Amino acid sequence: MAIPEEIINEIKYRNDIEQVISPYVNLKRRGKNLVGLCPFHGEKTPSFTIYPESGSFYCFGCGVGGDIFTFTKLIENLDYIEAVRLLAERSGIAIPESGYDDSYAKTKDTIYEINRETARFFHEHLMSPEGKWALDYLRGRGLTMSTIRHFGLGAAPDSWDALINHLKDKGFSISDMVRANVVGKSQRGSYYDRFRKRVMFPIINLRGKVIAFSGRAMPGEDKQGGKYVNTADTPVYKKSENLFGMNFAKNHCDERIILVEGNMDVISLHQAGFENAVAALGTSFTPEQANIISRYTNEIVLTLDADAAGQKAVRRAGEILKNTGLKVRVIVIPDAKDPDEYIKKFGKERFSALLEGAVSEIEYKLLTAVKDIDITGDDGKIRYLHKAAEIIAETGDKLTADYYIGKLSEKYGVSKTALQTRVRELTRRNANAEKKKIISDIIKPKYSANELNPEKRKFYTAAVAEEAIITILLQNPDFYEYLSQNLKSEQFITAFNRRIFDAVLQVIERGTVPDISCFGELLTDEELGFLTSLYNSEKYRKNSLTVLKDSITVLENEADKIELSKTASLSDEEWAESMKKMIDKKRGMNNG
Ligand code: UTP
Ligand code: MN
Repeated sequence: MAIPEEIINEIKYRNDIEQVISPYVNLKRRGKNLVGLCPFHGEKTPSFTIYPESGSFYCFGCGVGGDIFTFTKLIENLDYIEAVRLLAERSGIAIPESGYDDSYAKTKDTIYEINRETARFFHEHLMSPEGKWALDYLRGRGLTMSTIRHFGLGAAPDSWDALINHLKDKGFSISDMVRANVVGKSQRGSYYDRFRKRVMFPIINLRGKVIAFSGRAMPGEDKQGGKYVNTADTPVYKKSENLFGMNFAKNHCDERIILVEGNMDVISLHQAGFENAVAALGTSFTPEQANIISRYTNEIVLTLDADAAGQKAVRRAGEILKNTGLKVRVIVIPDAKDPDEYIKKFGKERFSALLEGAVSEIEYKLLTAVKDIDITGDDGKIRYLHKAAEIIAETGDKLTADYYIGKLSEKYGVSKTALQTRVRELTRRNANAEKKKIISDIIKPKYSANELNPEKRKFYTAAVAEEAIITILLQNPDFYEYLSQNLKSEQFITAFNRRIFDAVLQVIERGTVPDISCFGELLTDEELGFLTSLYNSEKYRKNSLTVLKDSITVLENEADKIELSKTASLSDEEWAESMKKMIDKKRGMNNG
């Protein structure tokens, strides 16, 4: 093991799992366990379970599972070693520098350092006489010096190698600069600064580290490279999993978070006192971003342009947000192209009023549906009411539905019961559809059972026996002797379970009583989640030795069946040969 086992144990001893998880998940006690809404996928009823006794967690909805290290790794977007380090730091435990391979963690550290140095370089350039063009531009857009400093804004000089030379002086290698994506490599093999003559926005993660940059061209100078040049994904940055401004917004979002489109909107809203604004970094809003937001607040306000693209974006974001449990509202910005312009034109008080009156998502849908349908005639009105009933049926909440049914029946002179009946029909239909498809396509479970062990479908009986064997061995490591005499891992039929079984054997052979933490580095996240579910399973607690013996027999029989089915296509000689092998094998096993 890379990090000494005593240290892992010491960290576990000082960080109990409930304490580690509770800042991220609202937990309720259920028997000896705790449950909550899974922070890794969208759900409305809790299937995320903590087992304090074994120091592990498992989500029955999406299959993630593991121990405190796995949880920290997944929720903070770290690799295993970093997660161990973070938890060690929090509890004041020192980890010896030698003794484990941390080259990947070192690369990440170097990239963080390059990013920090680069941000500093850009900021200093902005404040220097050479950066006057950029400062004039930002000041011209109404930003105060204090806002510029707060966001660490900068300017990239109009040069192909100014940053390269600066970073070289600071002792960084060119290959690390390329890895950080602040430097590019041309087809001819020469290196160049990726950001040139641009206003620079550093992107900062939740722990305050610079992870990427967004560079905006001067107006009229965006021919080359487009209006924005952004950092591509690097070992420290994935744009679909970050939000611009979230590092500040996370401390100001008790009430809600405001989602806007542009970086400039975020900055100008923060300056006006709305420090709960974030932007999606030029991607369309992703499920990962929705999950981050739902960890910090209960309500999200979408501000979007009234144009067709804006409406489409609202619809998409609404779909993604549906399963997060967040309350969703929408503001349409009137008479301005975006929040930045709105605040400049009408002031922050009016934006505040706009925010207070932000319509609910359902009201927004009802409003925009009117725009699509001509409701001057009776036909149109009826078509609109059908559409409206569909929209209302989408809300799971009876009271909300009733409220809008009342409003519509009054406005269009139809009876409340007629509308109610229609809505009820549609609700039932939706519920049925949902039952069939418990977890939506948009927020996919991380690991679906069939993808995990693709052979399980074909060799179902064998896979279930294998799972029983692994479970029983995990829960009763003293059966190891018995097992090693009666079963070899080659006899496992599905490769996925064989890998897990091998890992369990490996841990026991090392002389350790297996617990989840022994597998952090041996298994992938998917495998570890699955192993955790077996480890905590109550299925085979009783009569385990009998079940173990039966399972081995089942596995042997299944292997014979597979062997037999293969023989169907053999010639007579081949068939005789294979029968002989099978019989020999059986004899060998019974004697040995
Ligand atoms: P906008 O064009 O609305 O930019 O794009 P903005 O940030 O509001 O800038 P101003 O007000 O025109 O100066 C919205 C966001 O889309 C991404 C950026 O993250 C931007 O903030 N974007 C836009 C890109 O990544 N690349 C582009 O070429 C354009
Ligand atoms: Mn803008």
